[in-house]
Amino acid sequence: MRILVTGGAGYIGSHTSLELLRQGYEVTIVDNLSNSSSESIVRIEKLANKKINFHEFDLCNQKKLENCFKNEKFDAVIHFAGLKAVGESVEKALYYYQNNLVSTLSLLEVMEKNNVKNIVFSSSATIYGDPVSVPIPESASKQATNPYGQTKLMIEQILEDIVQTKNEWQVTSLRYFNPVGADPSGRIGEDPNGLPNNLLPFVSQVAVGKLSELKVFGNDYPTRDGTGIRDYIHVSDLAKAHVSAIKKPAAKNNYRAINIGTGKGTSVLEIVKAFELASGKKIKFKIVGRRAGDIAQCYADPKKAKTELGWKATKNIKDACVDAWNWQSNNPNGYSKIGKNE
Ligand code: NAD
Ligand code: WQD
Repeated sequence: MRILVTGGAGYIGSHTSLELLRQGYEVTIVDNLSNSSSESIVRIEKLANKKINFHEFDLCNQKKLENCFKNEKFDAVIHFAGLKAVGESVEKALYYYQNNLVSTLSLLEVMEKNNVKNIVFSSSATIYGDPVSVPIPESASKQATNPYGQTKLMIEQILEDIVQTKNEWQVTSLRYFNPVGADPSGRIGEDPNGLPNNLLPFVSQVAVGKLSELKVFGNDYPTRDGTGIRDYIHVSDLAKAHVSAIKKPAAKNNYRAINIGTGKGTSVLEIVKAFELASGKKIKFKIVGRRAGDIAQCYADPKKAKTELGWKATKNIKDACVDAWNWQSNNPNGYSKIGKNE
């Protein structure tokens, strides 16, 4: 089976492409490298000892996409491509709507034309907004609080609607909680541009000496230690969830949304402690005010993933910190050639 992986050079797409190859699938990647490096693809090929068909172009370019579908026969699509920075999406709302929505519409049209109707879409727990209670089931009310989250909600709606056409679409939206960690090989991992927005990459860069200290955004939340609680899901577990969704696709004319998380919440200070243990480095931090838009706590009810996909998380925070540190310490400059291993 050949799977088209959009955004496959990025953080989650690269780990999923590796897992697909390891489980015997053939992989084609389309990525415009707007937030990634083709070096990730070179490394996946080496790790799996298999080739990937890689096409560098923007999914909004429907002509190129049509050519790609003409030349290769896909059995299913995993759609990761998209812009994902919450803060940037507020400043560049049009850019986010244009990129995330137009690329998805372009992809869905080409899929329909070529009779490829099985898609797994990267959704996000961000669509739950500030949850009324935790753990969060898929049936919880949805509310986007920024343009990025709106694009996820809108795309989920588009996907629900195309299923209603009774045109044999099989759609899975995976709602990820907080993806972290790296492949245990230390060869691929998260490589953010500039200052990291997310906690784990920030902590990793403090540990490796690239950043001087972590700012902990608030210790006055109604949580066990006052800092924010999230459901951190190891990216290798997340990659396996995608392969499970390919193996057990939604039924024809069916849409399903599934949480991908561990079901456990971890606080910012607990992450700091776990990372110190994993790296043997002291993580300097200072408590500052809350970050606008942040919520106190968010973690998944992951039962549906078990019943629908036969999937559950197998790795814990310790594994994620060990693997993130292995990646960061071996590649202090990410995929850039200046890294000490290059
Ligand atoms: P990433 O930025 O590392 O990967 C996204 C990839 O898509 C990049 O390689 C980028 O170059 C590519 N891309 C973007 N727009 C494109 C376009 N128009 N045409 C072709 N390629 C394009 O991000 P990631 O963390 O791997 O996230 C993958 C998906 O998962 C995204 O849709 C993101 O919104 C979603 N998601 C991520 C998180 C997270 O915290 N990382 C959480 C929930 C959901
Ligand atoms: C985690 C915790 C922060 C950085 C974001 C998106 C969400 C999804 C996942 C895409 C919070 C605290 C963080 C720092 C800190 N992405 N923190 N200092 O905000 O839960 O979710 O990524 O879909 O949409 O919003 O993740 O890693 O930014 O924050 O104290 O420098 O760490 O306040 O409690 P978040 P995060």
